[in-house]
Amino acid sequence: KTNNFLRHVESMKLMPSGAGHISHLNAVILGDSLATEEDDFVLPSHDFASQANVQSPEQYLKMYKRSIEDPAGFWSEIAAEFYWKQKWGHKVCDENFDVRKGNIKIEWFKGGITNICYNCLDRNIEAGLGDKVAIYWEGNEPDLDGTLTYIQLLHQVCQLANYLKDNGVKKGDAVIIYLPMLMELPIAMLACARIGAVHSVVFAGFSAESLAQRIIDCKPKVVITCNAVKRGLKVLYLKDIVDAAIKDSAQNGVSIDKCLVYGNSLATKREDTKWKDGRDIWWQDVVPQYPTSCLVEWVDAEDPLFLLYTSGSTGKPKGVLHTTGGYMVYTATTFKYAFDYKQSDIYWCTADCGWITGHSYVTYGPMLNGASVIVYEGAPNYPDAGRCWDIVDKYKVTIFYTAPTLVRSLMRDGDDFVTRYSRKSLRVLGSVGEPINPSAWRWFYNVVGDSRCPISDTWWQTETGGFMITPLPGAWPQKPGSATFPFFGVQPVIVDENGVEIEGECSGYLCVKKSWPGAFRTLYGDHERYETTYFKAFAGYYFSGDGCSRDKDGYHWLTGRVDDVINVSGHRIGTAEVESALVSHPKCAEAAVVGVEHAVKGQGIYAFVTMVDGVQYSEELRKELVLTVRKQIGAFAAPDKIHWAPGLPKTRSGKIMRRILRKIASRQLDELGDTSTLADPNVVNQLIELADS
Ligand code: WT7
Repeated sequence: KTNNFLRHVESMKLMPSGAGHISHLNAVILGDSLATEEDDFVLPSHDFASQANVQSPEQYLKMYKRSIEDPAGFWSEIAAEFYWKQKWGHKVCDENFDVRKGNIKIEWFKGGITNICYNCLDRNIEAGLGDKVAIYWEGNEPDLDGTLTYIQLLHQVCQLANYLKDNGVKKGDAVIIYLPMLMELPIAMLACARIGAVHSVVFAGFSAESLAQRIIDCKPKVVITCNAVKRGLKVLYLKDIVDAAIKDSAQNGVSIDKCLVYGNSLATKREDTKWKDGRDIWWQDVVPQYPTSCLVEWVDAEDPLFLLYTSGSTGKPKGVLHTTGGYMVYTATTFKYAFDYKQSDIYWCTADCGWITGHSYVTYGPMLNGASVIVYEGAPNYPDAGRCWDIVDKYKVTIFYTAPTLVRSLMRDGDDFVTRYSRKSLRVLGSVGEPINPSAWRWFYNVVGDSRCPISDTWWQTETGGFMITPLPGAWPQKPGSATFPFFGVQPVIVDENGVEIEGECSGYLCVKKSWPGAFRTLYGDHERYETTYFKAFAGYYFSGDGCSRDKDGYHWLTGRVDDVINVSGHRIGTAEVESALVSHPKCAEAAVVGVEHAVKGQGIYAFVTMVDGVQYSEELRKELVLTVRKQIGAFAAPDKIHWAPGLPKTRSGKIMRRILRKIASRQLDELGDTSTLADPNVVNQLIELADS
């Protein structure tokens, strides 16, 4: 096995040595990178590598070098494959990445006039893909499905776009989309893009309060939702949540005139849906009456495409803003290379469009490539743990992209659910959301992929728009659990606590030097927070918030968040958000939330809670607290554990020492470290005593 890698390394030696920022990468590839027995390489098969879009480390390195040395040339050649009504100005990229030199600014293809919906649909139809299936929709119930070809999708998108225009939505206006994984969700996103409206998709698992917060922030012209949806055996009444959110928004001065409701008759009957005449309107009653063609609103490459909220280390969610041109070029290119995409592929990403993964790799990236995409409404383990492989066989899925949490949960259910299906169509697997532990990687590789399919462990973020560090299947020998190397145009650096770049084998904070086309341009309405959060921690760099180490072969290993953000099942949750929900309960005096290792979810939410004087802890109270968090944020943010705390460990200046709480939460009691700086060291013993009560 190692011989093959050594052969790669040998051939790398023929390459001229790189200069400057990529000399490091060269060094690890060219240098003394001798694979040893302990190294756990998994090599792409010859068959795979020889058909891959990028076939070897040499080819990768050549392209990578070009992307770094001549980003303008590299990206403008790719951008030229898309349709531009008017070409961009003389500068492909204009950026200031250094707060010390002024405000942070990132611009790509400025002056270029285009439309991402046109590039997803019309352009592909003109190229002959009109009758190709764009969406295979699979319902919650196994016998329920539907398809849309590219032409049919275009017609539906145009009808909705015309409806929106007719209801006063203009270029630059916001539209909130609160939908489950129906075809109408990507349709709604594309319809907004077609008319230059800015969509803000809110994951349909967020509570009314979270939805209201997002409505208040962007003041949408229209809210798009559906009456209800069935996921597994549960029915979720989305329209009720929207009603509550609209009411809440109105009390905060933002009123909604139009709520477009898709009637999902399988979940509930129309007549059972609460209705406000004049404001609420059934999608099916109006949208199909509109023409199936709609002129495109041409926009500047730097005009906003969408807003997507994500959690940070303070209470208020951040409205990540992506623009059109750079995002388009970046999502399309990353999709093509990281999944080794070919026109014959059938692609399934299990993510919901409510998260960035669904934006970039359910809707835009795949459709820009003219791909056939599966949109699955239901739960991945319904009616049983074999459902994913049932879907893979039904549609002959070739690329399957999911999250480690699902891999681990299916792994627990046993191999039988997997092996009873053929899965022979699969050729590439993908993972995203959190570091994938080597044992889950191996199970995914050996059992799901029959030791045949490379795994693309893609590291990226809502903010980055697309993949940043990712294997290119076929190009690299893989190491289970490593996201491997940077994508074209991306310069990851690892810095120490002083912001000094560290070379070679090391670990530290993961930053990025220079912009890439898919980068977010600001936090909506708060450019200052954008600069402070991402560009001030280590001046001169974009700071990801993640820790990372690099091994002797130059492979990157992500080690998780280094800020007060918890990653639960691949979803980012700010500890401060959960804490503020908990303390909103009248009986809760104080709360401190930490992440704790969880076998399936990656991290679980562990809350230390102090009650107001005189209140007795009880099971009932515990349930009330959990419910409070579900109501304020959403079910996915519910704490896994409430730990009653008569007091919290604080420094004399009153700062909660989370380091100690993390150790108590994970029961690493002999690793509490120095507790002498605590204002009251005794609280630690109290907490330990109450640990399992
Ligand atoms: C955070 C971003 C980007 C899509 C899903 C989550 C973690 C994401 C990986 C990976 C290790 C990963 C990081 C990152 N993360 N992918 N392949 N390996 N960690 O998007 O909600 O913006 O969260 O997810 O901690 O910072 P997000």
